Amino acid sequence: MAKAVKAARAAAPIPAAGNRRTEGERLVMPMIELKNIVKSYRRGSEELQILKNVSLSVEQGDFVAIIGPSGSGKSTLMNTIGLLDVPTSGSYVLEGVATEKMSDNRLAELRNTKIGFIFQQFNLLPKLNAIENVELPLVYSGVPRKERRERALRMLGLLGMEGRGHHKPSELSGGQQQRVAIARALAMQPSLLLADEPTGALDSRTGAEVLELMIQLNEQGNTIVLITHDAHIAESARRVVSIRDGQIVDDKRLAPLPAEPSRQEVAG
Ligand SMILES: Nc1ncnc2c1ncn2[C@@H]1O[C@H](COP(=O)(O)OP(=O)(O)OP(=O)(O)O)[C@@H](O)[C@H]1O
Ligand SMILES: [Mg+2]
Repeated sequence: MAKAVKAARAAAPIPAAGNRRTEGERLVMPMIELKNIVKSYRRGSEELQILKNVSLSVEQGDFVAIIGPSGSGKSTLMNTIGLLDVPTSGSYVLEGVATEKMSDNRLAELRNTKIGFIFQQFNLLPKLNAIENVELPLVYSGVPRKERRERALRMLGLLGMEGRGHHKPSELSGGQQQRVAIARALAMQPSLLLADEPTGALDSRTGAEVLELMIQLNEQGNTIVLITHDAHIAESARRVVSIRDGQIVDDKRLAPLPAEPSRQEVAG
């Protein structure tokens, strides 16, 4: 499967020259390129602008925290990046692929193969055990049963959950449930991990462990966009983008991009 994923990536259309940046000898293509994104909702005769002309590029290998107060548009931005939500206007290029005119099916396929989601409330299916929850994205993309099981067990093992595979979510602690959710997010070896307040439902110690896990995953080459309202959590990222009232108001780099742009396979 890793081979197939790599092949699919290799076959991705070559981006327009404007999307490339020369850094020393290598060409770096942004993983995410949002330009002038507007998201608005109509309520009666009134139009509510939630994202107001947001432009943002994220490079492969980066760890970006998006920080802002409640209601500032963080989740709306994450849903846009995660192809869960279509912007009202603007352009979004993901790994060199323009997403604006894609059909819902194609968007779903792209979402399933390229993006791993981690949510505050874990979003595990309560009737499935840990292994089955991790297997779910693999089921959707037609990975055969045996390989599915092997990969789910390997991912759970990587997250220190090997002894808990047969537990249902209700039989796991919050921190353990979040580990299962992270294993599920990683199962498809996505290009991008999107986490919306991943520590928000955890006590501070467990939250710190989950955050440490995110740092490790980034060090292993995973590109991460993490949403938080907590400045302390944001400090763990390489870059902090502040959003307020639907607009980016600050963008700070705390640590450089990793030198090696290629992504390692976490599942080895
Ligand atoms: N479907 C919708 N229809 C109308 N307004 C919406 C819709 N979804 C979100 N909004 C509004 O968009 C604004 C931003 O919401 P969003 O969920 O992105 O905020 P947030 O920054 O993630 O907040 P929080 O930190 O509380 O999660 C809010 O004012 C919200 O009411
Ligand atoms: Mg939110």
